[in-house]
Amino acid sequence: MVLRKPGPILVNGLIRLEYRGYDSAGISTIEKNGISLIKDKGRVKNLESQAGLKELEGTIGIAHTRWATHGKPSKENSHPHMDNSKTFSVVHNGIIENFEALRERLKGYGYKFYSDTDTETIPNLIHHYYKKGGIENFLKAVHDACMDLKGSFAIEVICSDFPDNMIVVRKDSPLVIGKAEGENYLSSDIPAILSFTRNFYLLNDYEFAVLSRDNIDFYSKDLEPIEKEVQAIEWNAVGADKNGYEDYMLKEIYEQATSTRETVGARFQTGKQTSFDELNFTKEYLSSLNRIYIVACGTAMHAGLAGKIAIEKLSKIPTEVDIASEFRYRDPLVDEKTLCIFLTQSGETADTIAALKLSKEKGAKTLAISNVIGSSITREADLTIYTHAGPEIAVASTKAYTSQVVLMNVLAIYMAEVLENNDQKYLDSLKQDILDLPEKVEETLKVSESLKGFARQVFQEKDVFYLGRGVDYAIATEGCLKLKEISYIHSESYAGGELKHGTIALIEKGITVVGVLTDKELIKKTVSNLQEVITRGAKTLIITSDKDLDTSSFDVVLTIPETNSFISPVISVIPLQLFAYYVAKEKGLDVDKPRNLAKSVTVE
Ligand code: M6R
Repeated sequence: MVLRKPGPILVNGLIRLEYRGYDSAGISTIEKNGISLIKDKGRVKNLESQAGLKELEGTIGIAHTRWATHGKPSKENSHPHMDNSKTFSVVHNGIIENFEALRERLKGYGYKFYSDTDTETIPNLIHHYYKKGGIENFLKAVHDACMDLKGSFAIEVICSDFPDNMIVVRKDSPLVIGKAEGENYLSSDIPAILSFTRNFYLLNDYEFAVLSRDNIDFYSKDLEPIEKEVQAIEWNAVGADKNGYEDYMLKEIYEQATSTRETVGARFQTGKQTSFDELNFTKEYLSSLNRIYIVACGTAMHAGLAGKIAIEKLSKIPTEVDIASEFRYRDPLVDEKTLCIFLTQSGETADTIAALKLSKEKGAKTLAISNVIGSSITREADLTIYTHAGPEIAVASTKAYTSQVVLMNVLAIYMAEVLENNDQKYLDSLKQDILDLPEKVEETLKVSESLKGFARQVFQEKDVFYLGRGVDYAIATEGCLKLKEISYIHSESYAGGELKHGTIALIEKGITVVGVLTDKELIKKTVSNLQEVITRGAKTLIITSDKDLDTSSFDVVLTIPETNSFISPVISVIPLQLFAYYVAKEKGLDVDKPRNLAKSVTVE
């Protein structure tokens, strides 16, 4: 078998992982004369032009693209980090919370530090524990170092004494191992190595793996050998490619007819109850619940806002939506009679995972809704449902959001059917509306393209406001986040009735206000609020499904297909996603990798 050179493989993997962080990048391989180290601040493509990259011969290598936590983006702070003797090279995701104490301890032993990072303590700590000898000594040193670490970590370590091996371990940070023919791969996410294999091992916290080209040995926290089962992943590499689109975000927006169809799958069948093989809810269990919490961050939390409306209305169980980072520290009222639902695309968001652990400790049943098979949260939760939206690469979440909203609606209908507290004909009509979504998504994508022109009028503005009521407020909030994260325009969303309690002071001539008008019960109310901003000189973009609405006073009106208000977010968010995209493109920005952000927020 011809051994492949590591440089291009590592760089290519980093390009695919760059959505997770892109402040700086670097790679290390084991060469004949020791460990190589090539790194710099900036994007991964800078690495390709670095001297020596093409000449690398070693067939074991590690690489990293960074989202800075400790220390600014700079060459010194980039990973990999080596120990003082240059025997070990390490890449690390996560945060070492006790790094300052460890640094002081290591300085006391004579170690010197050349970066501001928490990570640099790790190779030096490994070196401190290392006694030359067999591979078991290398493993023992990595193990002993990890036992000193507090915080979260996924670590890959290479050692110049073992040119054919690598050791990896994780705690609270993602790590997958891909098994291929005569080659093994490691990554913090599946897409980076999907073109090499579909067979993966997933490590649990404090499990160690010793890899060589054609073998992987697994060890427990006590360094006892353990067996792990290989898992086959259904995604294909095309799903993780741009597939001819200019950006991942645009591709993912346009995939929403397919992704929402995949989310529903075969759960609705004529004349049958909605099927959720993953759940075992009984009427007694659901009737015993005192409350449901939906806990999430960012866009997933916005999907929770839409999901709450359907779950609460159909199941009549009090349902609250909470921001994971708040929930985990506010001693929430959770007990055995609470169902806690955790929504997360990546399944790796640190705050959401911590909130789940807390709910479990308090005795609640925990249900994870994730898009990533085998992600950390799915291994912690009592129950898991997958959204099956396919890989989402762009930092700005789009198709994961619509799939989450669809899935929450399917779940709400399922619970209502188990509880038998709704008219079945009504529930059947809701199911039909969900089945009709893909066609309506296609139609909405077409009409929304007309917003390109309006984006050209808005892209130089400093502030944009979003208004809606009820479910339309939830959508306004998501549309607003899309605009700020990729176009860097300051935007705020308000419940229509709330505007006059302060924020209207900011409305002046020429300011853009986006109104979402789909909830029949509330359209007139929001129109009145929009009249208030028009009177004060605002220009308005209206997204509405009401074909009979008098729209003469608005500047731009986009009419979208009508559906029931529970799932209207799936339709009405599309023009807002595209609007944000067009504005960001007009500004010449990198929509897939907006500044300061990362796709998976695996740190607190
Ligand atoms: O992977 P998660 O769904 O848990 O991620 C949560 C948020 O970090 C995420 O939705 C973020 O807000 C997106 N960048 C929004 O587009």
